[in-house]
Parts: sequence; C-alpha cells; structure tokens
Amino acid sequence: MVMKSKVLIVGGTGYLGKRLVKASLAQGHVTYVLQRPEVGVDIEKVQTLLSFKEQGALLVHGSFDDHQSLVNAVKLVDVVICTISGVHIRSHQILLQLKLVEAIKQAGNIKRFLPSEFGTDPARMENAMEPGRVTFDDKMVVRKAIEDAGIPFTYVSANCFAGYFLGGLCQPGRIIPSRDSVVLLGDANQKVIYVDEDDIATYTIKTIDDPRTLNKTLYLRPSENILSQREVVEIWENLIGKVLDKSTISREEFLATMKEKNYAEQVGLTHYYHVCYEGCLANFQIGEEGEEASRLYPEVNYTMVDKYLTRYLTGIGVLVTENLRILAVHQQSPANCKNWPGRPPLLVCYETQANYQESEDEEERIGFSLTLGVISQKAVFDLFVCRSVPTFDVASEIVIWVVAVGCVCHCRTHRKNRCSTQ
Ligand SMILES: NC(=O)c1ccc[n+]([C@@H]2O[C@H](COP(=O)([O-])OP(=O)(O)OC[C@H]3O[C@@H](n4cnc5c(N)ncnc54)[C@H](OP(=O)(O)O)[C@@H]3O)[C@@H](O)[C@H]2O)c1
Repeated sequence: MVMKSKVLIVGGTGYLGKRLVKASLAQGHVTYVLQRPEVGVDIEKVQTLLSFKEQGALLVHGSFDDHQSLVNAVKLVDVVICTISGVHIRSHQILLQLKLVEAIKQAGNIKRFLPSEFGTDPARMENAMEPGRVTFDDKMVVRKAIEDAGIPFTYVSANCFAGYFLGGLCQPGRIIPSRDSVVLLGDANQKVIYVDEDDIATYTIKTIDDPRTLNKTLYLRPSENILSQREVVEIWENLIGKVLDKSTISREEFLATMKEKNYAEQVGLTHYYHVCYEGCLANFQIGEEGEEASRLYPEVNYTMVDKYLTRYLTGIGVLVTENLRILAVHQQSPANCKNWPGRPPLLVCYETQANYQESEDEEERIGFSLTLGVISQKAVFDLFVCRSVPTFDVASEIVIWVVAVGCVCHCRTHRKNRCSTQ
C-alpha cells in the first residue's frame, strides 16, 4: 500500500486553510499546521488551532521571521501546502512565501509544494490590468522561485470561490444574493467557473500524492459549474420563486466607476472584470501543462451551483437524492397557509425506496396528506433543483419539506406518526 504523505499546512486558520486542514485529516494524512507566534492573543485563531488539534492535527511552531523554525517545520513532512492570504480587501502576503521557498530548499526533503494560488491561473494573466495584476505577478514571482530551486510543485487553479462569486451573484462587493435586484456585468453571458471551497480543499488534497499532477497545474473545472452570471441568476430566481429586477453595467461604466474606489477594491474589481467581462477562466483549453480535477477525481461528488445557492435560502436547503423517491406531492390550500404570503407552499413527502417497498399499507405509503390535491412530480423537480442532502439520514423517517415562495423550511416525522409543519 502506498504511504500517504505527511502534510504541513501554512495559513491553516485562514478561509481556505481551515478547509484544507479538515480535508487533509479526512483523507487520512498526518497533518501538521503551522502555529505562528504572531497570532498572539487572536482568540479566534488560537481556538481554531486548538480545534485542529482536537481533530487530530499536530501543531508545529514556526514564524516567517525565523528561518530555522520554518526549516524545522518543513522537515517533519513530505508535502507543504501554503494558503497564505492573497485577497487585498483582507490581506495580501503572497511574497512572504519566498521565505517558505527558501526553507523548503534548505530542508531538501519536500516531495511536493503547493503555493498559495487557488484562483485564476497567473501564467495566463500576463496582460492583466493594473492594479489587479499584482496578484498574478506576485504569484508568478513565487512560481519562479519554486522552479529555480527545483522544488517539485503543483499549482491549483481553483477558479472562483463560490462564497464570493455565487454568494454575490457575480456582483463585486456583495456576498449574499439579493431577493430584489441584480446588476448584470455586460451581457452577463461569459462563462465563469464556481467551486465550493470545501471541494477546492478536497481536490487539492487528492492531488498531493498523484504523479499525474507533479509539476503541473491542476485546474478545477467541474463541468456543471461552468455557468454565466445570467444562468446563475436564473438558478437563484428559480430557488426563490421570483424574478429579480435587472440592470446592466457596461464594461466602460464598470471601468469608470472603478477609478473612484480605493486600491484594495480596485484590485478586486479588475479581477471581476477579467472573469466576468472577458471570460478569462473558461476561454482556453487545458494543455500539456495541466490536468482537470473533476476528470482526474470523478469520485468527488462536487457541490453544484444550485445546491450551493440553497444555503442562502431562509430555512434549510432541500434536496432530492438518487435513492429517494417521491411518495406524494400535495399542494396546501391557501387557507392553511395564512402566514405565507403569495403562492401557497407545497408539501412534499419522501422516503427511501426500501421503506416504500416494505409497507403494504397503501394509505401509509402515500402518507398523511390524502386530503390535499396531488400535483405532478415534474413541478416538484422544477422547484427542487438540487440533488443531495449529505448530512441527512432519511432511512427511518418520512420527511416532509414545506416549500413556500422565497422560503424553505422543513419538518420530519417518523413514518407512523402524523406530521405537523414547524
Ligand atoms: N479564487 C478565488 O475566488 C479566491 C478567493 C479568495 C482567495 N483566493 C486565494 O486563496 C488563497 C488563500 O486566501 P484566503 O482568503 O484563504 O486567505 P486569508 O484567509 O485571508 O488568510 C490566510 C492565512 O494567511 C496567513 N497570514 C495572513 N497574514 C499573514 C502574515 N502577515 N504573515 C504570515 N501569515 C499570514 C494567516 O495564517 P495563520 O494565521 O493561520 O498562520 C491567515 O489565516 C490566496 O492565494 C488567495 O489569492 C482565491
């Protein structure tokens, strides 16, 4: 059996870093996390580090201001993954990695280094606009140092973090989708690639021991998640049962208003410009220098855009999995739904195929909503566009999902009990 590499995560308490720690542990790697003395009395970070330890990670002390401490940390492992900050509106420390590269070079034992990239492939952004090109330029400086030092590497081009881009329906400065309006960037038809941050971590850990991605770029392009802003908005509209008011900002207006912003915002806006007006993520074929993650690791059940967006609904996201079947679908009469304005909610009952076959009682199988009118399953799938409820065990219970316009809530009951909504 191939031994799994030991991994050091640098930047572990960060937005992406904490997901990498989790994914590394989940995939069975001995996982070290750098604990920097500079975190001081940042209670959030300290508690996060302690929680990593509780989950099985090993904390190793080290500082970017103490070369030997970095060398010592690096010597403990086979693979180093760095997720140091690189978003100007938060913090941008990409070039600090040069110190880590020096440490890895001196330690001489590292089988793979994954620097803090996780976005647009910087090698394709040589014509990027100021001031945002600093992100790509700095990442290229780090790449050059890695390659000059002969350190084996994989660069992960993760495309768009879903939380930023889906959360805001591709609108810069927004991370929660509106229920009223949206500003479309240009014709809003450029294809963008969205990846759930936990999936980025899963794919990244999958690749560290994979010889197919040694000294290559791993592009994350889950095919179902390559969608235009317009398509994302449509998915959101379907989920909330409402059409948003739409306005458009032309590329000229976008660039003109950008000039009024501060430096950090301008950096972010230029990235949105390249992604949403120019389509820089999906307008090229992956060549010999790269591999595509969902093709290499088809076993990863990545989160699709519709499912990701359900987290912004009020209440709980609802989904139909392959192994569930619809028992009956009933429409509540408006009289029963005084508290829900607009379209009356639907009641939808599910149970597992196995449970369904077990029951010989027709009435029990159909459930408790016999008095209500049945509507077609097609209508349900129009509403239930997502596909999985990963944390949810339905084996022994009937599940009722109550869907109202703009709100999703649920209740569950054991199959023999009557159910009331909550
Ligand atoms: N594609 C996209 O949409 C997208 C979006 C966001 C980010 N990214 C990329 O993802 C990578 C990680 O970004 P992130 O948002 O996860 O980063 P982050 O949460 O802002 O920061 C990550 C970590 O960087 C470390 N750090 C920050 N300042 C430091 C300093 N002065 N000295 C040493 N360490 C410092 C800290 O680690 P510790 O305190 O734990 O040591 C921090 O937790 C970056 O390369 C970024 O460009 C891509």
